[in-house]
Amino acid sequence: MTEPDLDALFEAADVVRRRAHAPYSGFRVGAALVDEAGHIHAGCNVENAAYPVGTCAEAGAIAAMIAAGGRRIRAILVQADSPEPVTPCGACRQRIREFAGPGTPIHSAGLDGLRSHYTLEQLLPASFGPEHLVHGA
Ligand code: THU
Repeated sequence: MTEPDLDALFEAADVVRRRAHAPYSGFRVGAALVDEAGHIHAGCNVENAAYPVGTCAEAGAIAAMIAAGGRRIRAILVQADSPEPVTPCGACRQRIREFAGPGTPIHSAGLDGLRSHYTLEQLLPASFGPEHLVHGA
């Protein structure tokens, strides 16, 4: 992506991260992705008093994309207030895998800006995906 596009992803993630519901961890996360039509969708983590029910920012961004009619992730950015770059958890790597290819960029950002850059293949090598399912007639 060009820098202005990455700036737009960063801004979208920053806006929703502030709205995160993270009273238990105190760790607010925002995720923003761009779909095949160039539209940006964002989501934040939504925690729950029943801890395992909480959802990650990436899951929210993907749900927003699907609800809006998007079907492919061209790039995704995750932003958190953390000294180390935050990458998607294992479950979210698989969630991204459903709608992305091996070369799809996954960007990690702090509040100050971009920190590190990966591809889906780097974060989830030799992965399982939709094409492995063989449907019978
Ligand atoms: N979290 C995300 O939303 N995305 C990530 O990539 C890492 C972790 C959330 C889940 C939980 O609400 C909080 O961060 C602490 O794990």
